[in-house]
Amino acid sequence: MRLLLTGGAGFIGSHTSLLLLQRGYDVIIYDSFVNSSYKVINVIKSYLDSDGIDYKLKTIKGDIRDKSSLEKIFKDSIKEGNAIQAVIHFAGLKSVAESVKYPLKYWDVNVCGTKNLLEIMKDNECYSIVFSSSATIYGLTNAVPISEDQTVSPMNPYGKTKVAIENMLCDLFKSNMNLWKICSLRYFNPVGAHPSGLMGEDPIGIPSNLFPYITQVAIRRINLLKVFGDNWNTEDGSGVRDYIHIMDLSEGHIDAIGFLKSKKSIYESINLGSGKGYSVFQIIREFELSTGCEIPFLIEGRRDGDVAEYYADISKAERLLGWSPKRSLKQICIDGWNWQRNNPEGYT
Ligand code: NAD
Ligand code: WQD
Repeated sequence: MRLLLTGGAGFIGSHTSLLLLQRGYDVIIYDSFVNSSYKVINVIKSYLDSDGIDYKLKTIKGDIRDKSSLEKIFKDSIKEGNAIQAVIHFAGLKSVAESVKYPLKYWDVNVCGTKNLLEIMKDNECYSIVFSSSATIYGLTNAVPISEDQTVSPMNPYGKTKVAIENMLCDLFKSNMNLWKICSLRYFNPVGAHPSGLMGEDPIGIPSNLFPYITQVAIRRINLLKVFGDNWNTEDGSGVRDYIHIMDLSEGHIDAIGFLKSKKSIYESINLGSGKGYSVFQIIREFELSTGCEIPFLIEGRRDGDVAEYYADISKAERLLGWSPKRSLKQICIDGWNWQRNNPEGYT
């Protein structure tokens, strides 16, 4: 089965690509590499080569806003007699802070880019798509665990683009309910790395997220961690989130593709998280215990736009996809540290 992975060279896309190729899927990665390195493609290939796996992978550099380039991929696949049967749509911009500064850029890449992709899929009779949505769309919620039927109220332009895309997907489904198979996966906090230590998260510049920040403190690229608030209404006063191992998250995509394949038509939004909440202090403690690295920190004021606590209700993913996370927080820390220790400067 041939799949197109937009943004397939990114953090989540690269881990999912490798897993799909290991399971025998034929993969086309389409990525502009604005937030990823071509080196990850070579890592994927050499990993598969060393395992003696016969695989089918094409990588094409391009932007999802470039209609003719996207169109050519679909048409070429049809000509080869190997049409693209489904798309996993990771491509997009994901920084909350940047989206506040440059909202139009986010609406253009995320929303207009997705509209392009959907038009081309429709023109080429490819009707299955798994979309990378985000827990950020729930915004200020006070009922945890968060289930999919909770009202969405995104607090930043990035989150608003994800809601807009979900709405666009839902409208498209309703326009022809016998045709489209759509699954919006709402990720919580994807962290950790491939167990080989060969692939992981490689943020450009100073990380804005907790976990890559901690691994960079551990490798001493950064001196100390700033904990954004110790006076939240949580058990130890620090913010609580749902951290999910990147390998568990990647497996969720394989299950989502299988789910869509088994349906005549469908539209679903599904949370992918660990279903557990951990505080910043708990993460620091577990990282120190699992890796033996000391993480010096200081307490700072709260970060704008943060919420006290959120974690996912994952019963829908368990019920519909037959998926559940298998890896512990300890495994997240071990694998994340292994990646950072082997690649202190990431892919560069
Ligand atoms: P990432 O930045 O590592 O990957 C995104 C990929 O898309 C990158 O390789 C980038 O080069 C590519 N890309 C960006 N704009 C593009 C464009 N216009 N055309 C083609 N390619 C383009 O991010 P990620 O963490 O792997 O996230 C993947 C998806 O999941 C994103 O849509 C993101 O919004 C969503 N998501 C991520 C998280 C997270 O915390 N990592 C959480 C929830 C949702
Ligand atoms: C986690 C906790 C911080 C950094 C973000 C996006 C969201 C989604 C996932 C894409 C919070 C605290 C953090 C630091 C800290 N991405 N923290 N010091 O904010 O839950 O979600 O990533 O869709 O859209 O907003 O993740 O890792 O930034 O923060 O104390 O240097 O760690 O306050 O409590 P967040 P995060």
